[in-house]
Amino acid sequence: MSALLDASERLGRDELEALQLERLRATLRHAYDNVAFYRAAFDKAGIRPEDCRTLADLARFPFTAKADLRENYPFGMFAVPEEQVRRIHASSGTTGRPTVVGYTDRDLDTWADVVARSIRAAGGRPGHKVHVAYGYGLFTGGLGAHYGAERLGCTVIPASGGMTARQVQLIQDFRPEIIMITPSYMLTLLDEFERQGVDPRTTSLKVGIFGAEPWTEAMRREIEERFAIDAVDIYGLSEVMGPGVAQECVETKDGLHIWEDHFYPEVVDPFTGEVLPDGEEGELVFTSLTKEAMPVIRYRTRDLTRLLPGTARVFRRMEKVTGRSDDMVILRGVNLFPTQIEEIVLRTPSAAPHFQLRLTREGRLDALTVRAEARPEATPEQRTAAAASIAAAVKDGVGVSVAVEIVDPETLERSVGKLKRIVDLRDAMR
Ligand code: DLL
Repeated sequence: MSALLDASERLGRDELEALQLERLRATLRHAYDNVAFYRAAFDKAGIRPEDCRTLADLARFPFTAKADLRENYPFGMFAVPEEQVRRIHASSGTTGRPTVVGYTDRDLDTWADVVARSIRAAGGRPGHKVHVAYGYGLFTGGLGAHYGAERLGCTVIPASGGMTARQVQLIQDFRPEIIMITPSYMLTLLDEFERQGVDPRTTSLKVGIFGAEPWTEAMRREIEERFAIDAVDIYGLSEVMGPGVAQECVETKDGLHIWEDHFYPEVVDPFTGEVLPDGEEGELVFTSLTKEAMPVIRYRTRDLTRLLPGTARVFRRMEKVTGRSDDMVILRGVNLFPTQIEEIVLRTPSAAPHFQLRLTREGRLDALTVRAEARPEATPEQRTAAAASIAAAVKDGVGVSVAVEIVDPETLERSVGKLKRIVDLRDAMR
């Protein structure tokens, strides 16, 4: 087994922490010396890079938020001369300017290494064929997966997102062992396999590496069962690197090991910013340890999770992300995440795994309608029962009343990439 691990995957915890501290101090210095934004932020907080003597000292440095990246659009966060930036990616976000990120040659090399390490942790081996159905382009998913798979010595099929019928054809003809795709798009492929009369359990696929959006244990069971594959979780964000910041190991499937030799995690209270001890849930914050083109210091991801000790690797794990604080709906004072509804819909027998959350306003109160598709074979009575059962489970499990509509099969929009679960009609109703 150990021959399959990178050198840093074989470090002891103490050696890892010593490496992290050395890299952290260098990163703080690099950011302070080369990015006006960090210099001003550190000066304002009255702190210098050399004040970081232990890993815990990082908590004294200021946070960086997505808004800071937007305000420095497009290249203000870069720490190297523009001609050393070999590649640019950007994430569109829902409003305003895109967030731009840059990579030097060495950053691209690091990125390919961590994605290769991720695919190997998922069970991929040199010689495997990897079907990449994450979108190629400014989004980091496609190219990030692509170069990582090549680095591991796999054969890449750069399918990108969309043209679903063709994706099924390619999987049938090229016989990949691995697929890298969003979980919601995998469900779209599932429908297409069935439409073409192909049993999805009979494909060559052995492992799916799913990420770019939150997904639940219920979704894992659904996908593993319907495709007869192992489904593991990959996490990342463009501001920190792209896919491959953390990866679930196929042998344990117990949360994602963070590649802590390159990305230093903290979990903080989303309201006070106070660092929380491992095991407590809060907002995930990352500091890059080796990035050259765009170091990030205490970047607030808005993703909610907990840090846990390592199992299959020495690195700490993060629990599957339950949601983003941005996707949290507050309904009559109760916090609700789309993943909570996913768990419920997926265990409801006559409901298909396709659903949408529609937010409206009734008078001065927000209201939520869960629109879930019926399974094709469901009778009218079973549909009525499914609606009642979802409403009751939300009331019991989440503690709030929602309306439930069971709609006809294949009527909700299908995902071809990152799925938007919430349709917010509140402003339209003002
Ligand atoms: O989604 C990078 C990526 C591509 C990750 C492919 C995995 C696979 P962004 O477009 O910048 O980058 O979006 C990052 O997506 O902050 C999370 O909210 C969400 N996200 C990414 N992976 C997961 C995951 C890519 N495994 C944002 N579980 C992040 C839950 C995820 N949410």
